[in-house]
Amino acid sequence: MKNKLIFLSVAMAFVAFASCKNEAQNAASTQAKVYEGKEIGSEFDAKIDQLVSQMTLQEKIGMLHGNSMFANGGVARLGIPELKMADGPLGVREEISRDNWAPAGLTNDFATYYPATGALAATWNADLAHTFGNSVGQELRARDKDMLLSPAINIVRTPLGGRTYEYMSEDPFLNKKMAVPLIVGLQDNDVMACVKHFAANNQETNRDFVDVQIDERTLREIYLPAFEAAVKEGKAYSIMGAYNKFRGEYLCENDYMLNKILRDEWGFKGVVVSDWAAVHSTAKSLNSGLDIEMGTPKPFKEFFLADKLIAAVKAGEVSEAEIDKHVKRILRVLYQVKAIDGKDRVKGSIATEAHYQDAYKIASEAVVLLKNENNALPLKLDGVKSIAVIGNNATKKNALGGFGAGVKTKREVTPLEGLKNRLPSSIQINYAEGYLERYDEKNKGKLGDITLNGPVTIDQLDPVKLQEAIDAAKKSDIAIIFAGSNRDYETEASDRRSLKLPFGQEELIKKILAVNPKTIVVMVAGAPFDIQEVSKKTSALVWSWFNGSEGGNALADVLLGKVNPSGKLPWTMPKNIMDSPAHATNSFPGDKTVNYAEGILVGYRWFDTKKIEPLYPFGYGLSYTTFAFDNAKTDKKSYAQDETISVSVTVKNTGKVDGKEIVQLYSSKSDSKITRAAQELKGFQKVLVTAGNSQTVIIQVPVKELSYYNVKSKKWTVEPGNYTLKLGSSSRDIKKEVVVIIK
Ligand code: BGC
Repeated sequence: MKNKLIFLSVAMAFVAFASCKNEAQNAASTQAKVYEGKEIGSEFDAKIDQLVSQMTLQEKIGMLHGNSMFANGGVARLGIPELKMADGPLGVREEISRDNWAPAGLTNDFATYYPATGALAATWNADLAHTFGNSVGQELRARDKDMLLSPAINIVRTPLGGRTYEYMSEDPFLNKKMAVPLIVGLQDNDVMACVKHFAANNQETNRDFVDVQIDERTLREIYLPAFEAAVKEGKAYSIMGAYNKFRGEYLCENDYMLNKILRDEWGFKGVVVSDWAAVHSTAKSLNSGLDIEMGTPKPFKEFFLADKLIAAVKAGEVSEAEIDKHVKRILRVLYQVKAIDGKDRVKGSIATEAHYQDAYKIASEAVVLLKNENNALPLKLDGVKSIAVIGNNATKKNALGGFGAGVKTKREVTPLEGLKNRLPSSIQINYAEGYLERYDEKNKGKLGDITLNGPVTIDQLDPVKLQEAIDAAKKSDIAIIFAGSNRDYETEASDRRSLKLPFGQEELIKKILAVNPKTIVVMVAGAPFDIQEVSKKTSALVWSWFNGSEGGNALADVLLGKVNPSGKLPWTMPKNIMDSPAHATNSFPGDKTVNYAEGILVGYRWFDTKKIEPLYPFGYGLSYTTFAFDNAKTDKKSYAQDETISVSVTVKNTGKVDGKEIVQLYSSKSDSKITRAAQELKGFQKVLVTAGNSQTVIIQVPVKELSYYNVKSKKWTVEPGNYTLKLGSSSRDIKKEVVVIIK
């Protein structure tokens, strides 16, 4: 392991907390590992200076822009390779042609399709984020690449965001705690993470030009923390500049964001890569901190950082010293990942059974159980002769689809296949497609069209398909409906128009429930939908995701009880879109400008502060067992500002099966002199507790986590006084509270 993996002694910590011997015998304890990346070294600087001194201006500038779709220019005569990149968040994207978007048609670029980042966030398991990064890093090396265009960690500001499935959550703390281990695991394989999209890229509508206005405190507290942790803790080697503008300047020519914050404040030493075709100027972009311009479709020499940059240097607008600065940054990261002079560089492996099993582990912990009346789940198969499997989503594949990066894979187990794999052959499966995917045909698959351009006539059920589904449900002992969306419907480059379930699914679900009350509804989707009616009517409701190569097997194992569900929602499921902060404040999507009027009250911060009841709250998810929290305490009563609060709580599994619980810690300061959210996530820990047993969970909260960004002093400030630390199994199911004093 090249990263510093500090596992704080759990036994020692436990001794400090166990108040009596009996407890010590019954309860082991657990707490989070600390992940930290490896800093870019300076040991190659002399070699780098030497290389740069031998390069012509043309060669240098060749490195500063795309020279093919996913690589900059190398300098073969000096042994400098191209910096080879690949998307993305779902796994390593198939090889794209050098000069256009057509697939290159290789036969050796089949990869593992990993659960989408939203699914990963739903596991609330930082160790699985590390597994994810490490596994994808192996695949990236097997494809001989240097940089993965991932993770995508923008905050889910609106439930309608087209890339919600690709992003993590609505909470900066959850994002950073999942992003850092992912980056560390990835970069441990001699590759770079390219953390995207920096920053404030929270909508697809007008993303190419929209000017995002966010007040400074909100920027610092909500939209930047995960990026900051990615740089300072994860030591990410590259960052992708976003498409949009921030306070009037495009993000790829934004001196405040790229030079002042990213480099001067956070000490970023890596490279800034533009999003594809996100650059709008030559000297300004370079001077503002951009290192590599990527994009398409014009000829590469017409890029802003290509021939135009050569002309700018010749005209004296950009100095050669400035060019050298950027070239050196690129060379430094190439050395860092052993792309130059690399002995023993990780070779990697791709689409192996071990990687599929990594995807399985993540998928099985991502599934969220939303409702389970009368223990409808796990399915009891005694006496069951037939199961109706209904819905296009039972067979729909999502590794590819929509606009943007997917994965070409040989394995994508669909929900139907998963059930076939796992059910005894004696049980008859009656499959019916139920609903048809419908899009505005002439626009299908094109940028932004699916949900932005009307008229949308996508909600009609086909009478024949409907009847088939009803017949299947009638003649089966149990029915399972696979509803939701897919990656053609939820897609990069467009936001959804509404939360409504598309393709007439709500009507279908109601009709199936009417003929077979033993109906389970499974949602396959990456973002919130209006499932209020569905949730009222069905006794069991499960949320699955675009859940990777093994998604169908993982889902079947949850439905059949081999896996006890342990995922929790990484965002709030609203009852109504107008309850959501960006919509309630009428500040989405804006026009040329979007003003984030809700300020710091994003996601559950808004719902909790304004006392609005969500359909399902942030952090919510059920289990096949039950847990009780007991003996919540801190190691001291009062703390200095530079100290860390150790919070412990005993989690008892009070049910009959083993299960994993996610202890969530929210802080709240009701007497604060400044505006604050009712509560904010400040810690969490997932823990396996066997039936009838207990585990003590220890969560470390550095006091500085309780600070707010003081706009006047430009400093993170901890307000002294009392803080209530709330321990719960969701943001709305707080089981214990402890009050601490901060001096
Ligand atoms: C996306 C990026 C992606 C890039 C290259 C852009 O449209 O916003 O996330 O990495 O394309 O495929």
